[in-house]
Amino acid sequence: MQIITANRIRKGLIPPNTNAYRIFDGGGDGQEGVFIDTFAGHWLVSHLDDRPDAISLSGLERESLWLKRLERDCKGEAQCVEGNPENHRVSIMENGVTFEIDFAAGYSQGIFLDQRDNRREVVCRAPGQRILNCFAYTCGFSVAAALAGAQSTTSIDLSKSYLEWGKRNFELNGIDLSSSEHHFCRGDVFEWLNQFIRKKRIFGGVILDPPSFSRDRKGGVFNVEKDYPRLIATAARLVEPGGWLLACCNHRGIHARRFSDLLHEGLVSSGRVSISRELRGMPPDFSGDQYLKSCWIGIG
Ligand SMILES: C[S@@+](CC[C@H](N)C(=O)[O-])C[C@H]1O[C@@H](n2cnc3c(N)ncnc32)[C@H](O)[C@@H]1O
Repeated sequence: MQIITANRIRKGLIPPNTNAYRIFDGGGDGQEGVFIDTFAGHWLVSHLDDRPDAISLSGLERESLWLKRLERDCKGEAQCVEGNPENHRVSIMENGVTFEIDFAAGYSQGIFLDQRDNRREVVCRAPGQRILNCFAYTCGFSVAAALAGAQSTTSIDLSKSYLEWGKRNFELNGIDLSSSEHHFCRGDVFEWLNQFIRKKRIFGGVILDPPSFSRDRKGGVFNVEKDYPRLIATAARLVEPGGWLLACCNHRGIHARRFSDLLHEGLVSSGRVSISRELRGMPPDFSGDQYLKSCWIGIG
C-alpha cells in the first residue's frame, strides 16, 4: 500500500487531540520490515536490514525525517535525514495529554505508541484511585492517570534518567510535583513490590508492562517468560479488593494462550481471585503483527 493511502486511512482511526500514531505498519500495510510513525509531523522510519528504500516517502509533508535500523543486537539511535537534527526534542499530544519525545535519546523515543488505548483505559479507571505503574519508563501511564484525577501515582523504574524524563512529562501537563501525591521509585520492581507488601500499602490499580528481558546493575535478570507468574503473584497482593491489574506482554514468542497460562499461574500462587479478565488487542493503526497482549484483570 502507498503511504499516502495508509495515512489517509489512519486519519479516520486516530482519536481527537492526538498527533502521534503509526502511519504504516510493515506487513499489515503490505511491506514487511518497514514501520513509519509520526510524532507531531516528525517522522520516524524504522526498518529491518537494508530496507529504508523499500517504500517511497515522497508526496507527504513532514517537519523532519529520522531513520532507525531495527536490529536485535545493535540498538542504535535514529539518524536525521531531513530537517534540523538539533530539533530532536518535540512535544506530542495523545488524547489531549502532552509527552516529550527525543529522537536522540537512543533506541526508544520516549513513548510506546502501541499503548495508546491502554493509557486511555487507565484514564477511565484512575479517578480517585491510587495507581502503581511498574516498569514506568517515561511515566506515560502515570501522567495519564494523574491528569484523570488519580488520588496518587507511584512509578517504578530501574532508570533514573527515564524517571527524570517522566517528571518532565508531568510538568509539561501542568501537574504540580511539589505535593506528595506522585512518587518516583528507582530500582528493581520486585524489590519495591516486596517493600510495599511489608508496609501494607495497597493500590486501586497496578500496571505491569515489562520488557521481554532486562539486567540491572547488580546483575539481576528479568526474563518475562520465566518471571511473569512471580510478577503477577507479587503485584496481585498489592491490589485492593475490587481493584484491577493491567498485565501486558510484548514478547513476540509468547502467544495469547501462553500468556493467559502465565497469568493464571501467577494468580493462583498469589492466593487472590480474579473476578474478571479481558484480553485486549492493539490500537487500529497497528495493523501488522499483533505482538502486544494486554489483559485487564479485576481482583476480588
Ligand atoms: C517496555 S519499557 C516500559 C514501557 C512503559 N510501561 C510505557 O508504557 O511507556 C520497559 C521499562 O522497564 C524498565 N525496567 C526493566 N527491568 C526493570 C526492573 N527489573 N525493575 C524496574 N524497571 C525495569 C526499563 O528501564 C524500561 O524503562
